[in-house]
Amino acid sequence: MTGKEEEKIIILDFGGQYSQLLARRVREARVFCEVLPYDAPVEELKGENLRGIILSGSPATAFSGEVLPCSPAVFTLGVPVLGIGYGMQILAHQLGGRVAWSKSLASGRTQLRVIQAQDLLAGVNDGETVWMDHGVAIESLPAGFDLIACTWDVPVAAMADLEGKFYGVQYHPEVRETPGGMEVIKNFLYRICGCQGLWTTAAFVEDQTETIKAQVGEGKVLCALSGGVDSSVAAALVHRAVGDQLTCVFVNHGLLRKGEAEEVRHTFAAKLGVNLVYVDARERFLGRLAGVTDPERKRKIIGEEFIRVFEEEAGKLGHLDYLVQGTIYPDVIESGTAPGTRLVKSHHNVGGLPEDMNLKLLEPLRELFKDEVRRVGSELGLDEELLWRHPFPGPGLAVRIIGEVTEEKLAILREADAIVVEEIKRAGLYREVWQAFALLPDLRSVGVRGDGRTYAHTVAIRAVTSIDAMTADWARLPHEVLASISDRIVKEVEGVNRVVYDITAKPPATIEWE
Ligand code: XMP
Repeated sequence: MTGKEEEKIIILDFGGQYSQLLARRVREARVFCEVLPYDAPVEELKGENLRGIILSGSPATAFSGEVLPCSPAVFTLGVPVLGIGYGMQILAHQLGGRVAWSKSLASGRTQLRVIQAQDLLAGVNDGETVWMDHGVAIESLPAGFDLIACTWDVPVAAMADLEGKFYGVQYHPEVRETPGGMEVIKNFLYRICGCQGLWTTAAFVEDQTETIKAQVGEGKVLCALSGGVDSSVAAALVHRAVGDQLTCVFVNHGLLRKGEAEEVRHTFAAKLGVNLVYVDARERFLGRLAGVTDPERKRKIIGEEFIRVFEEEAGKLGHLDYLVQGTIYPDVIESGTAPGTRLVKSHHNVGGLPEDMNLKLLEPLRELFKDEVRRVGSELGLDEELLWRHPFPGPGLAVRIIGEVTEEKLAILREADAIVVEEIKRAGLYREVWQAFALLPDLRSVGVRGDGRTYAHTVAIRAVTSIDAMTADWARLPHEVLASISDRIVKEVEGVNRVVYDITAKPPATIEWE
């Protein structure tokens, strides 16, 4: 039992930017939760284990007059409902309050005046800083509701119907800018919904182990290991469940970072004792990439070649039944960036995986957020180093070398990239940046060394902060860190005489250069 069979919270997503963050906060409080579209039919919500519903926010466009209601049945399921931001407006609206849809309130940091420090707001101090949603004014509360908090300019910052167990907060308890917000979330989960906090990593691992065992039976399982966090944790979990029935295939396409292939072999074959087929396909990939400069053609070639190699190897393994994939919750979550959209995020894997092999999919991490995946990995004995590794594109270093990919350029890039990562780790900043790497812009310039002129490569450094790679900003790395990266690269990497730092956000740039 992972706790999800016993207790579950549902978050109805009206398209706001914080729904996923809110879901993570609920999970941090050890209660399983799911994010569903705001208009999910009530049958999808019902269940023995349903303990409460949270109505989440909506982007600014929702205030322009279009009111998006959830199913009215949400309020008759007999479980507590908490509306946050737009969620509070819609809750007030649907329960008969008067909402001035045209009268907008400003957003930002403000101090909360607590009127009733009990129940939802138990332990919340008067004067606490909170992050107010941009929203609209509530002119009159629905029947049965009390005002429980306000601010100097927001007359209804929180409201409660203790009897009906309906609640609303106009500010965001889930964001970092509301330091005491977790108290409110926990009050809702524990005091109001009666949750016990049963969702734990250890329980998840136990439960999944049993589920996978039962599902796979005597079947044979295949996994394409990329060295990334998700596929590694998925493989380790399935290995724990079915041991030698699992075979992992790791294709070294020659476009990996320094030491990566060795690390994967060490972790999986030596340490965990996984059946690992290591395929050295370096020459094959480089051969096909010779003379190719167009980024999309590179991607296509690598994707196709990957599938070919993978299929060849799988063919040698005899009959197979299942294919493990490291799909995680943000990949499958149905949530729109705008209200009403039901967008399933496409996630690019290592160029996609074969579809015609007729294998059943095994996706043991489908319900987990990234931080949970890391905790599961830790529980399974994977190294922190591997678990915190930055995302790396499937086509690897091929998209970090502008122009033709050659052995010589790969060697330079691998060394330079290792230095970037080492120095950022040494400064204790690795986990604060989303991705940090070196790239080779296919640019040579003049320099001096000793008495002579050089004409050598420029290395560019890219380091960005981001939440989901959809947008990103260049990381404000301290000058000293940039200086030591640059010093070391020009000193230690032969063939490089210049280092530059990319200071462009996404958009308009992208994270990768190709
Ligand atoms: P961009 O460059 O589009 O990258 O800002 C967004 C995120 O996606 C990664 N990326 C890729 N991942 N195959 C992948 O598996 C690809 O072809 C690919 N291109 C970009 C990139 O590293 C960043 O995390």
